[in-house]
Amino acid sequence: MASRRISLLAALIIAAIEGRLLVPPSAVLQAEGTAVPIGIPVEIRSPLGLPPVPVPRDNPPTAESIALGRRLFFDPRLSVDNTVSCASCHKPSLAFSDGRQLPEGVRQQKGRRNAPSLLNAAYREAFFWDGRSPSLEAQAQEPVQNPLEMAHDAGCGGEANG
Ligand code: HEC
Repeated sequence: MASRRISLLAALIIAAIEGRLLVPPSAVLQAEGTAVPIGIPVEIRSPLGLPPVPVPRDNPPTAESIALGRRLFFDPRLSVDNTVSCASCHKPSLAFSDGRQLPEGVRQQKGRRNAPSLLNAAYREAFFWDGRSPSLEAQAQEPVQNPLEMAHDAGCGGEANG
């Protein structure tokens, strides 16, 4: 259940960054594991001049997961008091950053680090300013639980890192 939630959150990031897309492949990819997104995997077109977008074998993007991810990215219900969405700090109109020195999370709390642009984040090999997260799948749950950002208590002990 938890890994399925993480897969969906990761798909939202890819959807937000790669808003255009998608050519259905003729065959359905055979993904490893059981918690894979529903739907038929689709191919994400690379931005001009960049290599193919790396996609984890157990989390291929599908039209359904991308559509859900796009909705979740803009949904303030991901925060504990329904006021902050991912897009509050990663605004598409500001290259998926927020134009501030430090971001503002729930209850007008100031974050500790600048909110980076998410452009082409799918190509990165480590996430956050200190590189502490190894994948988008792992990264995506942190803002939801960070007490200075969206402040949900998922029982995993969120830290105020951002
Ligand atoms: C309150 C502001 C805030 C919210 C809300 C927020 N973020 Fe962030 N985001 C940040 C900050 C600050 C960092 C850098 C944190 C750090 O380095 O410790 C960051 C980093 C990231 C990164 C890593 C980028 C990189 O280059 O390493 C990704 C990806 C990301 N956020 C996606 C999301 C998603 C998806 C959501 C919603 C589920 C979200 N963020 C919600 C402020 C926010």
